[in-house]
Amino acid sequence: MLRIAVCVSGGGTNLQAIIDAILAGALQEVEIVAVISNNANAYALERAKAHEIPSYCIAPKTFETRREFEQAFLEQLIKIQPDLIVLAGFLVNIAPEVVHAFPDRIINIHPSLIPAFCGQGYYGLKVHEGVLERGVQVTGATVHYVDEGIDTGRILIQKAVCVQCGDTPKELQERVMKEAEWIILPQAIAQIAQNYSKE
Ligand code: GRF
Repeated sequence: MLRIAVCVSGGGTNLQAIIDAILAGALQEVEIVAVISNNANAYALERAKAHEIPSYCIAPKTFETRREFEQAFLEQLIKIQPDLIVLAGFLVNIAPEVVHAFPDRIINIHPSLIPAFCGQGYYGLKVHEGVLERGVQVTGATVHYVDEGIDTGRILIQKAVCVQCGDTPKELQERVMKEAEWIILPQAIAQIAQNYSKE
């Protein structure tokens, strides 16, 4: 059984895709043992509660310093001891100490075809605004391992999505989520779970 902790900041549609894949039997031998958010108002926490998944809120603004937040975040992960950490719409940069504590055990979903439209400043709608501004005709999503950089780790899965004439950033974001993110994130976890069970 692959025990995963899912880190969230917002609506939690990628978390819901994982939950739904497990319930549908499309994602076997995987258990979500925790949902952690940096945002107490994240609807993703409601999704976790609806499925009786233990949830934790570790919000930077409740700590005196950024260092204390990072330490608390790491300590909570060490307590949970997940086999895999999944960043699903998580808007906090992961501290090097966390990457070192969980080497090759953290993955992230990014809403573009890395190396395009990624890195510092490219998150949420800003990614799709950049795509539309540049006029590219194909975008998509990427699941990659997390290293010490931002969106720089080894790529696991990508899926392309066509940009449609007249797309707004919101319309494009929704298509990329529906046609790519919600598909490749469970797929990536399934791949890792299959390899994990062989170890
Ligand atoms: C999505 O655009 C996702 O690609 C990005 O965060 C946004 C919200 O994701 N990482 P979610 O609905 O909270 O999963």
